[in-house]
Amino acid sequence: MSTTATSAPAIEVRGLRREFRVRQGIFSAPRQVIAVDDVSFAVPAGSVLGVVGESGCGKSTLARLILNLLAPTSGDVLVDGKRLADMDRRARARLIQPVFQDPFASLNPRRRVRDIIAMPLIAQGDVATDDMNRRVAEAMERVGLSRDQAQRYPAQLSGGQRQRVAIARALVLRPRIVVCDEPTSALDVSVQAQILNLLAELRRDLGLTYLFISHNLAVVEHIATEVAVMYLGRIVERTESERLFAAPRHPYTRALLASVLTPEPGLGVPDVGLGDIMPDPANIPPGCRFHPRCPVAIARCATEAPKSTADAAGLVECHLAESVG
Ligand SMILES: Nc1ncnc2c1ncn2[C@@H]1O[C@H](COP(=O)(O)OP(=O)(O)OP(=O)(O)O)[C@@H](O)[C@H]1O
Ligand code: SF4
Ligand SMILES: [Mg+2]
Repeated sequence: MSTTATSAPAIEVRGLRREFRVRQGIFSAPRQVIAVDDVSFAVPAGSVLGVVGESGCGKSTLARLILNLLAPTSGDVLVDGKRLADMDRRARARLIQPVFQDPFASLNPRRRVRDIIAMPLIAQGDVATDDMNRRVAEAMERVGLSRDQAQRYPAQLSGGQRQRVAIARALVLRPRIVVCDEPTSALDVSVQAQILNLLAELRRDLGLTYLFISHNLAVVEHIATEVAVMYLGRIVERTESERLFAAPRHPYTRALLASVLTPEPGLGVPDVGLGDIMPDPANIPPGCRFHPRCPVAIARCATEAPKSTADAAGLVECHLAESVG
């Protein structure tokens, strides 16, 4: 696995924005949803940026933009200092790979495990058969799959084994970056820890960089070196993981952390104790977008959007942090 030769961050996102036009019925006018709203950050090589936030806040849209599965409305994604949009598909695949939530949906049920894992190599075009076999075997071994599982179909594997296949497929091209979107959320709790430990081990051994999305804060705390908290398409706080869990600064982060104290395993979305419904992303509140739910809002929050303030401790977007910082 190559290590970085440049000082550019592994992933850099600049002013990223993605709008969707959504029509709810054939007679209704289309509404505009801003799923990702002017997001910028950099992820240094070898680190793990955890992205947390309630359902619908834009996490998967951000992941798909970074994977170039979706085109931004505006803004750029750079990998190793190069614009992702300028690379061809094969070059992109060698740098950045996804692992999604549901391995059953992301694996072709009619293909055998070895063919699924070989697919990214085949798409590269010029890989000799024995090289391909060797690399598939190497990827399977890395993720803890046995040789005899190579001939099986996804339906013959457990959920955890299927996710190992998805991870092996992501690793077979030896990428530098893996974008994990809820990689353990569809798994039994006991299996979640195994997959999480595997991902942590792979990062260490292979020097990978992760963008790691989860609504489960405990999972993010386990693996992330830095955490970004998303709310209605914006990153409202971003800081080093330990610091975020020890001393959250944004009122929304505090609410999210408080929700972990009353866990509902398997429920997925945390009850943030702010009224459980996420505001409508097609109708973002004026001022601070969190103000209708914010327990410490002040008068100007309803009319004036807070600026993102960066300091040594990280980044936070809240009027109260501005006055303190
Ligand atoms: N292809 C699409 N067309 C229209 N709207 C979309 C599309 N993809 C996402 N959205 C909207 O963008 C917003 C963000 O969705 P996204 O899937 O990114 O959220 P999320 O944080 O991943 O949620 P979850 O935790 O449920 O996976 C939502 O309002 C969603 O309805
Ligand atoms: S800007 Fe105001 S409403 Fe928004 S999080 Fe800060 S205090 Fe709450
Ligand atoms: Mg999602």
